[in-house]
Amino acid sequence: MFTIRSKEFLSPTIARFIIEAPYVAPKRKAGNFVIIRVSDNGERIPITLVDSDPVEGTVTLIVQAIGKTTKELLTKEAGDTIPDLVGPLGKPTPLHANETIVCVGGGVGTAELLPITRALKESGNRILSIVGARSRDLIILEDEMRAASDALAVTTDDGSYGKKGFVTDELKEILDREKPDAVYAIGPLPMMKAVSALTKVYGVHTTVSLNALMVDGTGMCGGCRVSIGGRMKFACVDGPEFDGHAVDFDELIIRNRSYTVFEQESNRRFTEEHACAAQQASEVVR
Ligand SMILES: Cc1cc2nc3c(=O)[nH]c(=O)nc-3n(C[C@H](O)[C@H](O)[C@H](O)COP(=O)(O)OP(=O)(O)OC[C@H]3O[C@@H](n4cnc5c(N)ncnc54)[C@H](O)[C@@H]3O)c2cc1C
Ligand code: FES
Repeated sequence: MFTIRSKEFLSPTIARFIIEAPYVAPKRKAGNFVIIRVSDNGERIPITLVDSDPVEGTVTLIVQAIGKTTKELLTKEAGDTIPDLVGPLGKPTPLHANETIVCVGGGVGTAELLPITRALKESGNRILSIVGARSRDLIILEDEMRAASDALAVTTDDGSYGKKGFVTDELKEILDREKPDAVYAIGPLPMMKAVSALTKVYGVHTTVSLNALMVDGTGMCGGCRVSIGGRMKFACVDGPEFDGHAVDFDELIIRNRSYTVFEQESNRRFTEEHACAAQQASEVVR
């Protein structure tokens, strides 16, 4: 069992958890993730290791509630436990030095990008970051990303905060102004696809982190299969980071929709049960 030390909301649907995991904490590197289960009969989901404290024996996860399992996790409080937390998994980020690197985060992808940005900065790179989301309430970790960057731009699709527009608008301005050595982009698949298409025109190497569906996270189930430059790779053991110019994004977008009907049904049941539990609790109070 893994005990939740603290929980803090970063936005109405995104929370930061500090969880006791003394065997995982000392081994974490930027780019690693864990596979967790939130309840005994629950599914296994991959979540990025945003940070760790080897002395305290804790790891930091930042999770957006989008379906049954992530919603269930966000119902947990400090002192509660989760049954499984396995890792660190995935290849660590290969680190460059003395380069200019643009780090682009979209939505909760900014949480996955933060440890990479920090590690690239600590390796002596000049970091220009762009953080974007649909609206102001979904912008997370702005202060942390600013601290890890030489310059930071914020964009929102609806213009409610920062510059109105997409992260690619801001990225194009940087690419027109100077020639960075590399771009790192993490966010929704359409965003990573758009960033990769843009940087390809400018000939700038681009790394993306692929949110493929995962089960075991150790290369055995084949669930996370992706096509990279026409060759089959497993995102869990060969990635999750890949050359964005070689990724078949359209295939991955289709594969990630494979279980939508079951995910929607599971989400519906969970939401109904919880609405029911909340209703019963309020009747007891009355
Ligand atoms: C290496 C890796 C690291 C990740 N790190 C984080 C993280 O730090 N924080 C975070 O909040 N999420 C992260 N994710 C995504 C997270 O695993 C999914 O959000 C989660 O599995 C959804 O489970 P669910 O039951 O709540 O939703 P589901 O009901 O399974 O899905 C709800 C919706 O989200 C889509 N979806 C499901 N799984 C994924 C997925 N793996 N990637 C993208 N979309 C998905 C579905 O198609 C569906 O539309 C990561 C994924 C990977 C592969
Ligand atoms: S998650 Fe099973 S092979 Fe990658």
